[in-house]
Amino acid sequence: MIELVEQEITNLVEEIGYDEVTRLFNTLAGGKRLRAKLVLEIAGTQDKAPRLGAIIELIHAASLLHDDVIDDATLRRGAPSVNATEDSKTAIMLGDALYSKAYGALVSYDEAVAKTVSDAVTALSVGELMDVRMSETFNANAQKYLDMLYLKTAALIEASAKAGALMMGRDAEAYATYGRNLGISFQIIDDILDIVSDEATLGKPALHDYEEGKCTLPYIYLYEALEGEERERLLSYHKEKLSTENASWIKEKMQKYHCVERSYALAQELSDKAISAVDGDARLIGIIESMMKRSF
Ligand code: FPP
Ligand code: MG
Repeated sequence: MIELVEQEITNLVEEIGYDEVTRLFNTLAGGKRLRAKLVLEIAGTQDKAPRLGAIIELIHAASLLHDDVIDDATLRRGAPSVNATEDSKTAIMLGDALYSKAYGALVSYDEAVAKTVSDAVTALSVGELMDVRMSETFNANAQKYLDMLYLKTAALIEASAKAGALMMGRDAEAYATYGRNLGISFQIIDDILDIVSDEATLGKPALHDYEEGKCTLPYIYLYEALEGEERERLLSYHKEKLSTENASWIKEKMQKYHCVERSYALAQELSDKAISAVDGDARLIGIIESMMKRSF
């Protein structure tokens, strides 16, 4: 089934009708296709489901092209990012071509489906802006961090599940709840992997979030646990290149205060909420379980 999505992605990119776009797009690694898989798992019996999955994957790819420019990131999914191999202008223009093509294709869906997806794109744009602003200074507010995650990452995952349910005439709100909680949980796992994993497994530099200014949940928990000079020490590393010694100090303190375990427990709690929203749907439960166990 996912092959049908890959075929639709190829079709959409070719329909743009410009060789450089096709060539550059073909250099991108495809990723996990989580959003398309959700559409297929929920609405796979609908003829138009693979194309909707492809549309959402193109929007996601466009957002990552722009995100790598915004974050000055040079690696994406184990390969150099387009802003690194070409330049930022090219990455932005490629993103624009993919994004506008996806929007054009979205208008042939029911209004409720199209609105669900386009509202999510507004949310992720706002989420990205929030993320950038929140990275400027240390953010110690966990709720504010989770609100940002919802917008930046979970909104499009929520929209994928909800749009699938709308196509099937199923309970859209239940599936939206599933997607929202899966999405936030997914990003918390991503944040944990930045701390516990290595570059070869991640396909991007490890222990990089804090250097980029991102105060993810384990850092917020660590900030709460530390006092006095140690807290100052943590704050002084914010947005700085971490030496091996300072990186080890952070990891050691995180271990002492169970910051990763606490973050994982929240991801688990949200995953449980997602599962209870779609009780009995074994395939959707399977998606959550593999997401929780993933290593990249
Ligand atoms: C990755 O976050 C970023 C996103 C999931 C959303 C980015 C959204 C935009 C740039 C705005 C929307 C633009 C368009 C064209 C649709 P991250 O930097 O935390 O994760 P990473 O480590 O994978 O880069
Ligand atoms: Mg980024």
